[in-house]
Formats: sequence, C-alpha cells, structure tokens
Amino acid sequence: MKLISHPTQGAIKIAANALKDGYLVSFPTETVYGLGADATNEKAVGKIYVAKGRPKNHPVIVHISSINKLEDWARDIPAYAKKLGSAYWPGPMTLILKRNASAQDFITGGQESVGLRVPNQKVALSLTREFEKLGGFGIAAPSANRFGSVSPTTAQAVEEELGKFLGSEDLILDDGQCKIGVESSIIDCTQVNPVVLRPGAITKEMIEQITNLKVLLKADENKVRAPGLLDNHYAPKAKVILGLAAKPGEGFIALDQIPTPVGSIRLASPASIEEYAKGLYQALRMGDQLGLSQIYVVEPEGNGLAIAIRDRLTKASSGKRG
Ligand code: TXA
Ligand code: MG
Repeated sequence: MKLISHPTQGAIKIAANALKDGYLVSFPTETVYGLGADATNEKAVGKIYVAKGRPKNHPVIVHISSINKLEDWARDIPAYAKKLGSAYWPGPMTLILKRNASAQDFITGGQESVGLRVPNQKVALSLTREFEKLGGFGIAAPSANRFGSVSPTTAQAVEEELGKFLGSEDLILDDGQCKIGVESSIIDCTQVNPVVLRPGAITKEMIEQITNLKVLLKADENKVRAPGLLDNHYAPKAKVILGLAAKPGEGFIALDQIPTPVGSIRLASPASIEEYAKGLYQALRMGDQLGLSQIYVVEPEGNGLAIAIRDRLTKASSGKRG
C-alpha cells in the first residue's frame, strides 16, 4: 500500500489507472474516506469486502462524476430524484434508484436497486473524472473502515484501519481531514415518496423543499437492507455510553459549554454542531488510542446535522445510556 499526500493531477491519473487495473484506491470525500474499486470489476469489488471484513450481501455506493451519468447505472428515475441530484450534487447525498444492467449483484448485494453519489471533494471528483476518461463507469466505495467500526475522516485513520489488509499496489490518497465528518444522507428514491434511510447533512427539510413531497424516515420502511442500520455499527473498541456520568479515567465528548466531569478525559469540545460532526469519529478513535474502556458522549440537541450525529451515536452505543 502506498499513501500519496496532497495528490497532484498526475498522481490522481495514476490512481485512476490503478482502479482500472483492478487495485483499490482509498480517497477522501467531503463526508468520510472511501475505499474505492472499479464498480464493474467483480474481482476488484471483492477485494473491498475482504479488506473491510464485510459480509458479501451488503450493497456498496457507486461514485460518479455528475448527474449526467445517472442513466449509466439506473432506470425509471423519478423526476423528484433528478431534482434532488440537480439541487444537492456534488454533495453529501446518496440516491437509491432502480438498477440497470451495469449494476450487478456484486454491487447491489442482489437487490434491484443501486446507490449513487457525486461527492463534493476535489480529489474525489477529479478521480471519478479521470476514471471515466479511461472508460470507467463509476467507483464503488464504502467507508474505508473495517466492518462495524468507525468511519475514517483522515488518511492516517484509513491506514490504521486497513493498512494491513491492503495489497502492495493499492493506494491511499491523502487530502487532509474530511469537511463534514459523518456519512452521506441516503435517500431511497424507488418509491412514490422519498425515504431517508440514513440521515446526513442533506436533511429531510432540504429534501421536502426541493421535491414538494412528504419525506418518510427509515423507521417507516424496512424492506431495504443497509448495514448502517444494524446495532453496534459505527462503534470504536471502547464502550460508548450516552450521557454525562463519566468517571475518572473514562472518556468524555460533549459540546464545549458542557463542563468535563471531574477526572474524566475530554476527547472533544466542539463549539458547534458542524464541528461536532467533523471531529466526532476522530475523538472516538482517540479514545481507543488511549486504551479507554468507556467513553461517555452527550448528544447534541436540535435538527439538521444533529439528527445524523444522534443516529450514529445511538448505533455506536447500541442505545445504551448511563
Ligand atoms: O458518505 C458516504 O456515503 C461514504 C462515502 C465514502 O461516500 N460512503 C459510505 O458507504 O458511507 P458505506 O458502504 O459505508 O455505507 C453506505 C450505505 C450502506 O449502509 C449500504 O447498505 C447502503 O449505503 N446502500 C448502498 N447501496 C444500497 C442500496 N442499493 N439499497 C439500500 N442501501 C444501500
Ligand atoms: Mg460504512
């Protein structure tokens, strides 16, 4: 595995060629780092599953360079999905659409739908474009972490997570810390109304505003498989507990106006919801690096990104409060 810092256009071309040759390339997006492979190459996509230790029947998102490439992967695209793509792409939003023949079972986990996203990050976008210039269709990329673990928001975190599971020709493109820090909103667009399967920076209100449709939340809809919905996902090794009751020597994460319980180890003091999202996964990783057994986290209140943060924290803690 080779890590390339602040990749030049030349380095991005080399990475696109590596994808075309069937190797893995981890790349930054505005949400979290992805672990990419040629989405039409079954063997290459198979390497993602091995590196992540992920069960085979879980679908992966395909990253494309623009909304104009939607028809390469999807069919019967509803007008509201096109409106969403026009409004929020490139951006932190994944659309689930009916698949066409390009989206094979090894991408969709055997489902009749495919997840598509245009990332809003210069290295990621440039990689999708260079890959398409080589005749590539799209880059399959889940978050670049071991299955069930915390998504990486820096290249160093990718290296820690996956370094020993990557091959000598695989690459990590390092372009610093991800701007948003929690994974994209996933919107199921295979029904009459959009359904939010995973909350993110593109909120229910933002979707309603563009589509003029009633937007449902995933609780209303459980037919579609998504590993992010399993209990104990997005979790560090330390036990995550929701609440304030950190004892001496235990980790603590909360907004900056909340004081640190006596003797506990403050892992993050974000001043805003945006900072909270951006730094959360790094803070959880830091807890593991310090060998902490328990991390108490005070959830942020409110709408917007706070909903996404609470969603990930509920999963990281399996809902345990203390
Ligand atoms: O922000 C993100 O979305 C990041 C960056 C790298 O783009 N990617 C990401 O991928 O979080 P992943 O695989 O860790 O999470 C994607 C989620 C999974 O829970 C997967 O099951 C769901 O999207 N998904 C993908 N295709 C799907 C489909 N056809 N139907 C339902 N869920 C799907
Ligand atoms: Mg993931």
